[in-house]
Amino acid sequence: MTLEKQDKHYVLQTYTRDYTNFVKGVGSRLYDENGREYIDFASGIGVNSVGHGNKTLTSALCEQAQNIIHISNLQVIEPQAKLAQKIVELSGYDMGVFFANSGAEANEGAIKIARKYGETHFDSKRYKVITLEHSFHGRTITTVKATGQESFHTPHFSPYPDGFSYEKSIKDVYKAIDKETVAVLIELVQGEGGVQPFEKTEIQALAKYLKDKKILLIVDEVQTGVYRTGEFLASNLYEIEPDIITLAKGLGGGVPIGAVMTKHKDIFSAGDHGSTFGGNYLSSAAGLAVLAVLENLYDRGVIAETHLYFEQKLEVIAKKYAMFFEKEVGLGLMRGLRAKTSNIQVSVIQNALKEGLVVLKAGRNTVRFLPSITITKDEINEGFKRFEKAMATI
Ligand SMILES: Cc1ncc(COP(=O)(O)O)c(C=O)c1O
Repeated sequence: MTLEKQDKHYVLQTYTRDYTNFVKGVGSRLYDENGREYIDFASGIGVNSVGHGNKTLTSALCEQAQNIIHISNLQVIEPQAKLAQKIVELSGYDMGVFFANSGAEANEGAIKIARKYGETHFDSKRYKVITLEHSFHGRTITTVKATGQESFHTPHFSPYPDGFSYEKSIKDVYKAIDKETVAVLIELVQGEGGVQPFEKTEIQALAKYLKDKKILLIVDEVQTGVYRTGEFLASNLYEIEPDIITLAKGLGGGVPIGAVMTKHKDIFSAGDHGSTFGGNYLSSAAGLAVLAVLENLYDRGVIAETHLYFEQKLEVIAKKYAMFFEKEVGLGLMRGLRAKTSNIQVSVIQNALKEGLVVLKAGRNTVRFLPSITITKDEINEGFKRFEKAMATI
């Protein structure tokens, strides 16, 4: 049986899969079973933040795996406490952290914190959460309902939980607030929605308004967090102080981990929330190793340099192929080219793979670039060389 047949027969077919079989990765290079090399501009949808085979990460994982992989959350877990401290210190916010295993789970935690806050802090219950129409917050029943993209609300999985509504833009959020609104949940750069950043001033004004009204601001940093937009958090870049922030993707460098952090440290009490695996020894050790690598690069100015280099290269491409792309979008190493049609988007992604370059789609017509934060100039140059080859046959 071929691998493709095996996959199709035994794995539930929830993804439209490509069947290139990657067997090895080094930095931002991937190798398939035939030894063919690919440049990775996707990093597992923004997950492999320190690339493939990073020595600091793999050594930390091997060492931790040889000692303890998992002990329940009923015991104190030293690397978990250290990771929470590191995240809080890097964020600059006075917050507490709960660890989960994915972005959706982190957002579930955020919504639970908001709901309990709304239940316990006001005379009459507040429970409604406002999100944005092009948002993406996860695939559990609640986070799919929190996701503003209508296509996700298929009747197959109904009934969904109550209390979510969607607005087209930030300025519409103000009008939608009522006395039952407890929180506004946003991404600062909408990832799945098309790599669309919001204006800093618009976000700062919203943050101030919500604070005055005692409505929580939840920032979903599942994709934007962990240096993806240049600072540790996009919230740092936007110079706001959210009430709740969620993280996942890049935090474990590929080891599943999610985190919800909040300045309302006393909302959850014992028994309110939990996770068997969340923040276990292995995933916390991964998080600590990833942050050690990235903090060092940040402090030496390497991340800023990489971001600038990638942006400049992409600008050249956007201009050169303006007949195919409307514009360049995104921030930091969360970038996209908005294609003129979705057919162009699909062809670019397929051609790129044929030329040995992995890129992603986002929204209906955006070609998305989410390289590892540790990508080198060499890898960037080679990737764009292949991208140009891919463009030759569009
Ligand atoms: C902004 C955002 N939130 C939440 C999620 C869901 O994360 P996960 O797939 O880890 O559950 C994603 C995943 O793409 C995301 O981009």
